Amino acid sequence: MIYETIIISTNENGEAHVTPFGVQFEDDVVVISPFKPSKTLNNILSTQTATMNLTDDVRVFAGVLTKRQPWQLIKTNQIDGYRLADCLTHVELKLLEVREDDTRPQLRMRQVEKQHHGDFKGFNRAQAAVIELAVLTSRLDMLPPEKIQSEREYLQIAIDKTAGKIELEAWVWLSEKINQYYEKNSA
Ligand SMILES: Cc1cc2nc3c(=O)[nH]c(=O)nc-3n(C[C@H](O)[C@H](O)[C@H](O)COP(=O)(O)O)c2cc1C
Repeated sequence: MIYETIIISTNENGEAHVTPFGVQFEDDVVVISPFKPSKTLNNILSTQTATMNLTDDVRVFAGVLTKRQPWQLIKTNQIDGYRLADCLTHVELKLLEVREDDTRPQLRMRQVEKQHHGDFKGFNRAQAAVIELAVLTSRLDMLPPEKIQSEREYLQIAIDKTAGKIELEAWVWLSEKINQYYEKNSA
């Protein structure tokens, strides 16, 4: 099973890097699998640490992909890093093992601190739709335009029926990015 999270790593200068990642759990071990090349991969190999942030604010996912920053960071306790100031849970991670692969290595991380900051309010279809559109947006150069368009139309149903302000804002950011991409690439 894969859970969509926000991984925050830091480079050698201590600068934070915020990225959505689907992670897997093997007992207590968190497994992050970045496709090469990846700044997150380089950062974790260099510092041996990262934080995993669980948030229901889907603007963080959409913000990374559209180069906006709708979040604030605060320093963590057990590792020299950052977490989302506003998240439901954050977990501080230390690198346990690297399983090498030419395209997608596995970073196996140990949990050294876990803190809950908010309640899970239940499933929301619009949040799931934004995450799906974020995944599609991160693959615009790999997927046929017809697939992006038909999936976007289907996901729009959940947005129309169940979105709040936050989900609508994130949806608009991603939609604008998709539209701009096709305007540029069909000219
Ligand atoms: C919901 C979601 C999940 C993602 N999961 C992964 C993942 O598991 N592995 C990966 O390499 N990229 C994943 N991406 C793409 C990364 O967020 C990002 O675009 C990039 O590939 C990672 O590069 P970076 O480490 O240089 O930021 C995901 C994107 C989204 C929106």
